[in-house]
Amino acid sequence: MMLDPERSHRLAMRALRMPGFARLVGRSYEDPILRQTLLGHGFRNPIGLAAGFDKDGEALGFWSRLGFGFVEAGTVTPSAQPGNPRPRVHRLSGDGALINSMGFNNRGAAALGVRLHTSGAQVPVGVNIGKGRDTPLGAAAADYARAVHTLGCSPAYFAVNVSSPNTPGLRELQDVSALAEIIDAVREADGRLPPATAITPIFVKVSPDLADGDLDDIVDLAARKRIAGLIAANTTVGREGLLAPVPHEGGLSGAPLRERSTAMVRRIRARAPTGMAIIGVGGVFTAEDAFEKIAAGASLVQVYTALVYEGPGLAARISRGLAGLLRSRGFDGVPEAVGSGVT
Ligand SMILES: Cc1cc2nc3c(=O)[nH]c(=O)nc-3n(C[C@H](O)[C@H](O)[C@H](O)COP(=O)(O)O)c2cc1C
Repeated sequence: MMLDPERSHRLAMRALRMPGFARLVGRSYEDPILRQTLLGHGFRNPIGLAAGFDKDGEALGFWSRLGFGFVEAGTVTPSAQPGNPRPRVHRLSGDGALINSMGFNNRGAAALGVRLHTSGAQVPVGVNIGKGRDTPLGAAAADYARAVHTLGCSPAYFAVNVSSPNTPGLRELQDVSALAEIIDAVREADGRLPPATAITPIFVKVSPDLADGDLDDIVDLAARKRIAGLIAANTTVGREGLLAPVPHEGGLSGAPLRERSTAMVRRIRARAPTGMAIIGVGGVFTAEDAFEKIAAGASLVQVYTALVYEGPGLAARISRGLAGLLRSRGFDGVPEAVGSGVT
């Protein structure tokens, strides 16, 4: 019998922390062509772990050993919460997809803050923040600020999650006036984090279900607010492209999301100021998929669903392939290929 996906995830997380496991299963791929400096941090490669996989930062010190260039912990909320009832993750193996309705189960921002201090992470760690399930939408900005304050230290970046489909009403916070308020509140709370001189880059993670016009409005807001950039995209409530109808509710991730998220990256790149960074996420399984996101305009790429299907060698495999693709297309590094449009 196949293990429940959430249970296999727990077992994998435990294995990852066992001495020698990471060395045994995966080897990171090092290549100078993949290195870049961004957001004031050195990235040894552009392949990151997407939010939701290591929500509580339990294995922050280990992802680099599996070849990841950065990690996004969270989503964390100001206080711990249990999330939705199980089962809440479903495999659609034939589609290379997952449907999840986790609902921000996490141990809270304070617990992650402690882990950030003690993890010994070798790569940049961003923190994805969300509002508590029971916080009314009108009080959301204060909740995001509280998550920052409770975390208590400055990560490599904050990802403001206003795009998960599993917290009722959350995606309404993509409305520009609500989002403007959240960005201001996060920035204000960040300004009080020690050290006072650290200004944490802020990203907003958007939904693939946004209409193009609404995405444009968010890009313009991001430019006006001079935030670091956007993460495209979260999971979709759409069910297009599946082999068969499925009864499960929640957000769809993986291969069916790939084209839409790449199109969003391309649209954002075309409209955003040059300095704004894009993190591309959705359906990346191979080096070609990662290159597609970069050519569309992403400086960094993340994976989640592919890691479930392809196993712990994934990041190193994508990095190796990506280095080859960059060379064969005559690029000297990732920044040159960003937005090149050549796939
Ligand atoms: C089980 C599961 C849990 C997730 N949890 C979060 C989360 O807590 N916060 C978030 O911003 N995105 C979350 N995501 C979305 C991923 O970070 C990513 O945006 C999405 O899965 C698309 O990438 P993929 O096709 O590589 O999986 C989750 C995805 C899955 C499958």
